[in-house]
Amino acid sequence: MNLDFLGDKKRSHYCADLSGGSVGSKVNLCGWVHRRRDLGKLIFVELRDVTGIVQVVFDSGSFADFVKVETLRAEFVVWVRGTVQPKGNSEEVEVLAEEFLLLNNAPELPVQVNEGTMADEDIRLKYRYLDLRRPALQSIIKMRSKIISKIRTFLDNEGFFEIETPILMKSTPEGARDYLVPSRLQHGSFFALPQSPQIYKQLLMISGFDRYYQIAKCFRDEDLRADRQPEFTQLDMEMSFVSQEDIFDVNQRLFQFLFKEILNVELPDFPRIKYHKAMEDYGTDKPDLRFGLKLKNLSNVLQDSEFKVFSSALSSGGSVRCVVAPNCGGYSRKQIDEFVGIAKHLGGSGLAYTKVVDGKLDSGIAKFLSETEQKAILEVSEAKDGDLIFYASDRDKIVFKVLDGVRRELGKQLNLCKNEEFAFAWITDFPLFEYDDEERRWVACHHMFTNPKEEHIKYFEDEKDYGKIEGMLYDLVCNGMEISSGSIRCHRADIQKKIFDLLGFEEEELERKFGFFLEALRYGTPPHGGIAPGIDRMVMIMTNASSIRDVIAFPKTLKAVDLMSQSPSPVDSYQLDELGIKIKE
Ligand code: AMO
Repeated sequence: MNLDFLGDKKRSHYCADLSGGSVGSKVNLCGWVHRRRDLGKLIFVELRDVTGIVQVVFDSGSFADFVKVETLRAEFVVWVRGTVQPKGNSEEVEVLAEEFLLLNNAPELPVQVNEGTMADEDIRLKYRYLDLRRPALQSIIKMRSKIISKIRTFLDNEGFFEIETPILMKSTPEGARDYLVPSRLQHGSFFALPQSPQIYKQLLMISGFDRYYQIAKCFRDEDLRADRQPEFTQLDMEMSFVSQEDIFDVNQRLFQFLFKEILNVELPDFPRIKYHKAMEDYGTDKPDLRFGLKLKNLSNVLQDSEFKVFSSALSSGGSVRCVVAPNCGGYSRKQIDEFVGIAKHLGGSGLAYTKVVDGKLDSGIAKFLSETEQKAILEVSEAKDGDLIFYASDRDKIVFKVLDGVRRELGKQLNLCKNEEFAFAWITDFPLFEYDDEERRWVACHHMFTNPKEEHIKYFEDEKDYGKIEGMLYDLVCNGMEISSGSIRCHRADIQKKIFDLLGFEEEELERKFGFFLEALRYGTPPHGGIAPGIDRMVMIMTNASSIRDVIAFPKTLKAVDLMSQSPSPVDSYQLDELGIKIKE
């Protein structure tokens, strides 16, 4: 075939352009054979392009080359010329073919594009370019493109500058493990891929750019989950001379703009919840606010309980809390065991339960609880007849984790999470530091460049107060997922130094790792702050995708592997030699 086949045959329309108004027009279409139905004298081809699918009819009575049409198979690439006509009695249209060219063929595909049932995800990831032909996946990736384009429109109008920052940078600990890139010219030295452009965006504020954003690639070598990829994208933002309120304002308006423009959804003002309140009520700092089922603290009313599991948790400084599953009193043992399984998976030693029957606690652990305790539990939990109560008792950290998991599962099972609802909220007043039991040291809850609250600076004096220091730091959550995180930064070198001291950095280590940044902070740094919405998670929420892999064109697996290109992969020995690297057996 002539490679310059298009000439006078150039595409005149996309499939989705054709409508009632096009009836009678001659059109040239290009695309893939999505499906072919052979009725003997008539062959129907569903032709697919990036916009959609249209039916093309080949009639053996009028179409000269009918034999060739019989050879068409799914995913062959074709050019068709024909006339638009109504499709039966429907409002839809189809194209009566007059000419066609086979532009390319294909063997049977390892991944079917036109079927409802999908191949295993591993196969789909191996042949991702074929998987991406599926209309469902295409529509997500197209929506992602639109979201990014609208973000740019909005931020340009708000006076932000889009500035790129390096991908090869200095390794600066930001929480996760770095991906390292060895230097060929300086053996033994490494670049790191950015976990985020955090330091650069702060430097851009020091340079005076005032409002920065970037659609930034970030890289983190951490354990992966349904909403985590080793390589992901942030809408990274930073602003000078602003308060937390300014950042909330521009972000709320950005999300309202995107949801209106793309989904035609009006988002109300985002409520605010303080971190400690979120933990008390939902056991998590990323609560799904589409439903209630708040946790209740029973510690006070069970202080003197003779039930060992509760009393031992309380006497060692822990708590007893519960969540009520409304109208779930009829749950079978098997159904309850499913929740116990969730609790254990989340690190709990188990999950106690009772049902509520005739205004009293029944079954499960009811027999271990005195009448007074039962009464108090009913009062605090507000459980009613027919309800089921789940109890967790342990250190707060575990209790929260377990009941958050139980609450989320109840939300799912009781259909309380409507896909078309978007429950945003700002979570504020986070602690700046938490004690890492494993590493036996204080670590930053968000990152090390966050300003403490002015009135909490006094707590830096004594280690017993470190946990009380709250930061000017905030998250935006939606439907149980953390969408963004940010903070007002420390623009004073003396306070930044206090933070580094508390985190246990030695002078020499500080100089080696952050010397350049600490020096920069001294040269007239404006007060500044920022935030970074995760674009992949935004797209997940807006397209109702359950896995982050569905919103990224070429994602990695949970083991951080690209199945398509089989990477990471070993390299040639001369490449290692050039880098001065020897692989340990
Ligand atoms: P943080 O580390 O909280 O903050 O990240 C901000 C947002 O990025 C998204 N995100 C991820 N998405 C997919 N896969 C991952 N592995 C992943 N990790 C994070 C989330 C998260 O809310 N520099 C700061 C931001 C700032 O302070 O301005 C930062 O990176 O949506």
